[in-house]
Amino acid sequence: MQVDVLLGLQWGDEGKGKIVDVLCPKYDLIARFQGGPNAGHTLEFDNKKFVLNTIPSGIFNKNTLNLIGNGVVIDPIILKKELDGLKEAKVDPIAEKNLVIARKAHLILPTHQLLDAASESKMGSAKIGSTLKGIGPTYMDKTGRNGLRVGDTTLSNFKEKYEKLKEKHLNILSHYGEIPDFEEKEAAFFEAIDFLRTIPHVDSEHLVNRYLDEGKKVLAEGAQGTLLDIDFGSYPFVTSSNTTTAGACTGLGIAPNRIGKVIGIFKAYCTRVGGGPFPTELDDEVGEKLRKLGHEFGATTGRSRRTGWVDIPALKYAIMLNGVTDLVIMKADVLDTFEEIKVCTKYNYDGEVIDYMPYDINSIKPEPIFETKEGWNADTTLIRKKEEVPEKLKTYIKYLEKTLGKPITYLSVGPDRKQTIKL
Ligand code: GDP
Ligand code: IMO
Ligand code: MG
Repeated sequence: MQVDVLLGLQWGDEGKGKIVDVLCPKYDLIARFQGGPNAGHTLEFDNKKFVLNTIPSGIFNKNTLNLIGNGVVIDPIILKKELDGLKEAKVDPIAEKNLVIARKAHLILPTHQLLDAASESKMGSAKIGSTLKGIGPTYMDKTGRNGLRVGDTTLSNFKEKYEKLKEKHLNILSHYGEIPDFEEKEAAFFEAIDFLRTIPHVDSEHLVNRYLDEGKKVLAEGAQGTLLDIDFGSYPFVTSSNTTTAGACTGLGIAPNRIGKVIGIFKAYCTRVGGGPFPTELDDEVGEKLRKLGHEFGATTGRSRRTGWVDIPALKYAIMLNGVTDLVIMKADVLDTFEEIKVCTKYNYDGEVIDYMPYDINSIKPEPIFETKEGWNADTTLIRKKEEVPEKLKTYIKYLEKTLGKPITYLSVGPDRKQTIKL
């Protein structure tokens, strides 16, 4: 058995949570492999809406085990809040025994968040637009070999380790200016750590490999998007983890030859939240229309998302990096009332026409070259079967499949679980 991977091909918020929820009945295990509560994965069904930050999106299926992998960074306070929220909705993963957490996952401390905020406030116009959840500083401590891990919470010297790391953070923070009060947060942190101890801790590498050896089906759930990858994204306007398929190997403990299908999710247009380059961005009424119809406001921070047309060179780059085998097109319904749809196929870049994403898109802006496609001008939100898809939307999908060189296996026409069509 091999692990299938599902991840975003753009700058995040492609609709990963929705599709994991749709596909999870086919899997025995859903495993988040990187990122942290900077993610917001939205699921809608039975007139209910849930936003998950740390918990994998298979949590509503009682028969699926959900693993928070070692590559994830965990804010215990947020995780507790998520679980409390689920409990209010009569979903109790601890009682159902369908949530486990990797011992090797790193912890986000209250002072990691202070460091995130302090660092961003000094950046001026070069701000990354971080979600300020402490993601960058936590991964820095992980690679700096200072981090605290979930497994440490069961050791007798946990408090000592915490104090040592906190001291280090306070020392750094003192160089930024006055340190905000965080006593309340610290109390909440320790309360949440007690709670974290009640969630079963596992060795993700052993669990996932055992599942595969037993012939069970595993889906790895990515967070953020390929263009936010620490190595291959629009650096430095990226997140601090490998959001690409390779991240599933290190973020769970599986060998590269155990990767099976790679399901790449993309919107029929494109969005980005936070700072950094966005070649196809629309700063006009069309962009505003996409934002309004697509409800493009962040699931985690509520920030307004930047909008633009689909970017083929960027998608091809993402498909290559991830070894995508199957594509899923999201939010096609948002384009239902558009007479024309634009697709960026190439860029004018530094006096040349190119069809790939160049190294530097920060100081030299790639100017998109668009092709115009006919819109389908029909309400797609009630479509449930492949046969009902309007001809012009089929033509658009065929065009994308041919251009991207991979099959589009699902079409999403609304936020609800039911608004998903197998192609
Ligand atoms: P994720 O981070 O990739 O899981 O995506 P988010 O949940 O942050 O953002 C996707 C947003 O689009 C959420 O509000 C979803 O409910 C919504 N959504 C998902 N699929 C569709 C779709 O096909 N059409 C529309 N209109 N909304 C969708
Ligand atoms: P999901 O999983 C969209 C963006 C932030 C910022 C940059 C760095 O919901 O798709 P960080 O908090 O990681 O230091 O922020 O990355 N970002 C996301 N954008 N979706 C996300 O997650 C994101 N997670 C981080 O806006 O530009
Ligand atoms: Mg999101």
